[in-house]
Amino acid sequence: MVCLGNICRSPLAEGILQHKIEEHGLDWQVDSAGTGSWHIGDLPDRRSIATARQHGIDITCQRARQLKPHDLDGFDLVLAMDSQNYQDILHLATTKAQEEKVHLIMNFATPGRNQAVPDPYWDDNGFEQVFQMLEEACDKLVERFSSKAGPL
Ligand code: 4NP
Repeated sequence: MVCLGNICRSPLAEGILQHKIEEHGLDWQVDSAGTGSWHIGDLPDRRSIATARQHGIDITCQRARQLKPHDLDGFDLVLAMDSQNYQDILHLATTKAQEEKVHLIMNFATPGRNQAVPDPYWDDNGFEQVFQMLEEACDKLVERFSSKAGPL
């Protein structure tokens, strides 16, 4: 799960998917990172922590880190929150196989629409909407990849 700072959107995405992994007993690993370096080592934003907590999810064990090229080898899917993240991730890719792992997360919920998860950093009221969008996308991810559906 990748956003810009790894303190607002992608920590929520990681927390939501981790919760679903446990609920469904899936053998998956989820992590998150930011394309930027400003918040390395920081806790998630207090508003993300509060929003997750309202939904019974604790994300306080997370610490921000920056996305590294080797993440494109270590994970099967690399999910961007918006088109800028998407482009920045693709810039790290050096092979077609790496490029093919990168997707806009909302295309799992609303295929083909290239919808962005809006950056809530400057908007105290945006966090619940972000949570709802990510929850829908994570539900679809679980549906898609925990079933016998074919490849992307
Ligand atoms: P995120 O939000 O990418 O969802 O973690 C942001 C967090 C920090 C900044 C921008 C976006 N920032 O400019 O520091």
